[in-house]
Amino acid sequence: MMKKFQTVRGMKDIMQSESKAYRALENKLISAANQYGFNEIKTPILEETSLFIKSIGDGTDIVEKEMYSFLDSKKNSISMRPEGTASCARALIQNGLNDSINKVWYSGPFFRHERPQKGRYRQFHQFGAEFIGVENYEADFEIISLVDYIWKSLNINPTLIINSIGDHTDRKNYVKVLVDYLKKYETSFNDNEKNKLKLNPLRILDSKNEKTKDILSSAPKINDYISKESKIHFENLLSILDAKNIKYKKDDNLVRGLDYYNRTVFEYIDTKSNTQNTICAGGRYDFLFENLCDKKIPALGFAIGIERLMEYSGYIDKENKLVNFYIIILDEDNYLYSQNIANLIRNISKKFIVSNSYNYNNIKSQLKKADKLSADYCVIIGAEESKNSECQLKSMNSGLQENININALESYIKDNIL
Ligand code: HAM
Repeated sequence: MMKKFQTVRGMKDIMQSESKAYRALENKLISAANQYGFNEIKTPILEETSLFIKSIGDGTDIVEKEMYSFLDSKKNSISMRPEGTASCARALIQNGLNDSINKVWYSGPFFRHERPQKGRYRQFHQFGAEFIGVENYEADFEIISLVDYIWKSLNINPTLIINSIGDHTDRKNYVKVLVDYLKKYETSFNDNEKNKLKLNPLRILDSKNEKTKDILSSAPKINDYISKESKIHFENLLSILDAKNIKYKKDDNLVRGLDYYNRTVFEYIDTKSNTQNTICAGGRYDFLFENLCDKKIPALGFAIGIERLMEYSGYIDKENKLVNFYIIILDEDNYLYSQNIANLIRNISKKFIVSNSYNYNNIKSQLKKADKLSADYCVIIGAEESKNSECQLKSMNSGLQENININALESYIKDNIL
């Protein structure tokens, strides 16, 4: 028996029935980011593995076990990008940061070899934006304000969870105290948590394990260990969010799973769901550039998981309602004539979709096909119509059919359909 090929586990096709909504949703995000002064950046899917190790951190889940990595023919280790921030930083450094401030957005596929489940795929799509070059809390506000603007344009309201994890030295001091505290409870931890305690103790803070959550409730809090500057930065951000009436929840245990973060970190959560409920996540990474190019450049950003946003918002493209025309030709000789009409209609509006029937004989079966394809109008062309430079225009909704001269077609459509 012939092998039936399937998508690779954890990856999915976005078929015609869904792809229009995906594209329209992406266009909304792009347009919002453009309005905030961000420009598109396109970086390759493949990068040197060491870029991600150095940026995301080698004790993180992504680098430890989720990257699609391979050796190329020259034995260089290459990885499929698991996220976009490291690539953006690399690209800006490589191509020269021409201005002191760079604001970029990207949209595309990312790859993580995670255990697949609803909302978690091995190829997924992110729309992200990175704001490079401004240390002030105003940049943090602008990023959150952009995401808020996007949610408003989609009429949704996920919950903003926010925290400050201070700067790197604050974090080092805090990790020491945290490990001292957690070590007392090590026997209560599962293997995964024991491993995290060794490699990346901060990751225990967002454990979903009830027993661990109990232990954490009395653990030292990161906010008590962050520097005065970080505290002021965070307080300023929160007060501007208050002033702009952007609601948030402060969460001491929010630390994020990537090592490059410092100070502000945030996530937008669907509170009605318990699993894979983070729709958008981001934060500040003032030390990433320094780590990659020895130059200290402050930055922050976010990424939205498109599949999760789609699921959460139930997005349907209501604004770009298209009108489908289906051309029915009764005689092959009239094909050329039909194509003149098809282009005439396409040129009237981008909203007009024109497709053809390729079956010339039976009008009944052609009308049936038009119905199946959800055509709004059929353009019917027989020998008589072609001879007289006319066509029949049939509304599939009302059933009304009119004979129209080709010279009058544009104004008829503009008056009655556009
Ligand atoms: P992240 O939290 O790893 O952050 O991913 C951001 C978002 O991508 C998640 O909140 C989620 O919506 C989506 N996502 C991640 N993994 C998957 C998956 N396996 N399946 C479906 N969706 C997924 C970052 O990637 C950072 N680069 C964000 C950032 C930008 N920070 C600063 N700038």
